[in-house]
Amino acid sequence: MKTVAQPGTAGGPSNFRFVRFGATAGIDAEEVTEGLSRAQKSLPAKLLYDAHGSELFNAICETEAYYPTRTEHAIFREHAGAIASTIGADCTIVEPGSGEMVKVRMLLPALAPSAYVGIDVSEKQLISAGARLAADFPHLQVLAACGDFSRLEAVSPYVPNDRRRVAFFPGSTIGNFEPEAARAFLSVLRALVGDDGAAVIGVDLRKSKAILDLAYNDPEGFTRAFNLNLLSRLNRDLGADFDLRRFQHHAFYDEARGRIEMHLVSMVSQSVRIADRVIAFQPGESIHTESSYKYDPQAFAALAGKAGFGAQRMWTDARAYFGVFLLTAG
Ligand code: SAH
Ligand code: TRP
Repeated sequence: MKTVAQPGTAGGPSNFRFVRFGATAGIDAEEVTEGLSRAQKSLPAKLLYDAHGSELFNAICETEAYYPTRTEHAIFREHAGAIASTIGADCTIVEPGSGEMVKVRMLLPALAPSAYVGIDVSEKQLISAGARLAADFPHLQVLAACGDFSRLEAVSPYVPNDRRRVAFFPGSTIGNFEPEAARAFLSVLRALVGDDGAAVIGVDLRKSKAILDLAYNDPEGFTRAFNLNLLSRLNRDLGADFDLRRFQHHAFYDEARGRIEMHLVSMVSQSVRIADRVIAFQPGESIHTESSYKYDPQAFAALAGKAGFGAQRMWTDARAYFGVFLLTAG
C-alpha cells in the first residue's frame, strides 16, 4: 500500500488524506474472462462503479421507484440520537463502499466522531466526496481509502486504533453479497471493530415483488443505463467490442431466493472479443451482473449473531421496508 496523497498534496483540506490499498487498482482482465467463461456468465459487481457508473448510481437513488435511499435517510434522521447514545462520542467510523458519504452526515451532529474512513473502488468520487466531507467538518480526520472492500484487512493498519471503531455499512450493500459471503464479511467487520466496537448496518427487507421489481426497473431508465455502462467500461478499459444495442437490462425479484437478480441479456446470437478471447452468446443468454438479497429482520439478526454480534437493535420505517441494525459484541 502506498500513500498517494499526503495532507495538502491532493489540494484537499489538511484533515483529509487519501490512500490506495490492496494489490492492483483497476480492472483485472483475468477475473473478467473467467466470469464470462462460466455456464452462467457473470461479471464482478464492483466493475459497475467507474466514474460514470457512480453518477448513474446517484441518479438511481433519487428516483421515486428506488425507495431504499429515502427510507433509510428518514430512519437515520429519526434515530441518530439513539444510535449516538449507544455508541458514544469520539469514535472512528469506517464505511466500506462510502459512495457520496451522504448518510454519515446524518449521524455526525449527534455522534461527534473524531475520525472517518471511507473505502471505495470509485476513485474520483471517493476523493471528491472525502475532500468535501473534510472541508465541511474541520474537526473530523477524514481518510479516503481506495480499493476493494473484500480486502478490508489491508485497510486496518490505516484505521486509527486509539478510539472505539464503528463500522458503518448503509445502503443495503450487505445484500449484494451471497448470504454466506455476507456472514463472512460481517465477521471481518466484527474483527475490525473489536470487542468494544459496533456496527451500523442498513438492510433492505423482504416485501412484495411488485415494489421490488419496480425499484430495479425505474421508469427513468437509470438502472438500465447503470447496468449497460458495465459493457461500455469493458470496451474502454479492456478494448472489448460489446455492441450495447444488442444487450438488454433485465432485473427481477426471485421470491423463493429472496433476491433481485440483475442481468444483461444478449438479444441475438453474437460473439464478443475481449482481452484476446472470443466469447459466444446464444440469443437470450445472459451475464449476471449483480444480486441484491432482501432479508427478514430475524434472518439478518441470526446472520449477524453468527458473525459474533451478540447484541442488536433494529429501527425500521412505518411500512417496514428497510431496517437499520445497531450491532455490538454483546
Ligand atoms: N454507502 C453509500 C453508497 C452505497 S452504494 C450509501 O449508502 O449511500 C455502494 C458503494 O460501494 C458504491 O459507492 C461503490 O462504488 C462501492 N463498491 C461496490 N463494490 C465495492 C468493492 N468491492 N469495494 C469497494 N467499494 C465498492
Ligand atoms: N446496495 C444497493 C441495492 O442492492 C445497490 C443497488 C441499487 C444496485 N440499485 C442497484 C445494484 C441497481 C445494482 C443495480 O439496492
